Amino acid sequence: MNDHHTKKEIDQVSGVETTGHEWDGLKELNNPAPRWWLWVFYICCLWSFAYWVMYPAWPTLTGATKGTLGVNQHVELERAQAEISVRRAQWAEDFAKASFDDIKKDEKLFAVARAGGAAAFKDNCATCHGTGAAGGKGYPNLNDDDWLWGGTVEEIHQTLLYGIRSGHDEARTSQMPAFGRDGLLKPTEITDVAHYVVGLSDHTAKADMPGAAIYATNCASCHGDAGQGVRDFGGPRLNDAIWLYGGTVDDVVAQVTNPRHGVMPYWSGRLDPQTIRQLAVYVHSLGGGEEAKAPDVPVEQVPNAPAVSDTAPEDNQNGSSNAPAP
Ligand code: HEC
Ligand code: HEC
Repeated sequence: MNDHHTKKEIDQVSGVETTGHEWDGLKELNNPAPRWWLWVFYICCLWSFAYWVMYPAWPTLTGATKGTLGVNQHVELERAQAEISVRRAQWAEDFAKASFDDIKKDEKLFAVARAGGAAAFKDNCATCHGTGAAGGKGYPNLNDDDWLWGGTVEEIHQTLLYGIRSGHDEARTSQMPAFGRDGLLKPTEITDVAHYVVGLSDHTAKADMPGAAIYATNCASCHGDAGQGVRDFGGPRLNDAIWLYGGTVDDVVAQVTNPRHGVMPYWSGRLDPQTIRQLAVYVHSLGGGEEAKAPDVPVEQVPNAPAVSDTAPEDNQNGSSNAPAP
């Protein structure tokens, strides 16, 4: 056998034993590892040993070893969640006790209600009303000032609790008659009244239009004499440019012939009462919410104030009538 591997070879220069490995005439010395390095190595071994005893480490068939400290993500999560629910319980109690008025006045309750309402809206309402609550055909926009059934926070709350034509005993209900399908109006009368209704919307309606009388007899009770809408019946306002089902003559003919009856589900018993209150606050805060004492009739337009022309035209042009004369 080759005795090259067994015989000790001593390096001539340093007097240190070699490992027997040689590259291009250079031989590797068999120096022991430095002491500091060995210590670091031992400490690392001890550390890793302690770590796998104390922390979850080795995978097993059903999970992993638990570790003696009992530390794991689930415990951490539970602790964090317990903390959150304590805090939540605190404000939930405050919220439940507060009236809508109180909530509006309390910045923190209002912010929390809005956040909770926004989250619940995404989960439950956005499918029909859109994520931004802007609605779509047949689904009202909840950001605008146009309300079918009322835009105070209490009215919205009621709509949410019981729904519209939802089948709930307390639901808001009304039925626009099927004037065409049931033969209450002749097709020509329907076209006439449709032209009048479109005229109400774009302000071209005249009292002597053939549809005017038909409107007064058949429609005004639910949509108002001037098309301003009647909230007790959810009769949409017709004298504006906001339409649920479209504002062309054809759209109106379709609605008068064979009306659609929008259904808004009820949420009492499906969402918890406080969530419904948060939703009411949220929807009310979207921009179109009304104050409790909203006038029933549109405010009369203030006539244009007479123009005051006691300043020189040059001053008016640069918008600073108080500027000293040049
Ligand atoms: C299945 C579709 C659908 C869902 C889901 C839905 N809505 Fe509606 N919602 C409607 C329809 C349709 C109307 C209009 C009913 C009508 O024509 O009178 C409506 C009307 C409303 C109104 C009354 C608007 C007005 O002008 O008076 C409010 C407020 C409202 N929804 C809020 C919500 C909120 C908040 C949610 C979620 C909790 C929600 N809706 C979920 C379909 C839906
Ligand atoms: C009994 C009450 C009632 C009567 C009477 C009635 N309507 Fe309606 N009308 C409604 C209701 C309620 C709606 C809303 C339906 C919905 O929300 O789905 C509506 C919706 C409409 C719409 C759709 C509005 C939009 O924004 O898209 C038009 C147009 C309309 N009615 C026209 C008429 C005309 C014209 C007449 C008379 C020939 C008439 N209505 C009679 C209750 C009535």
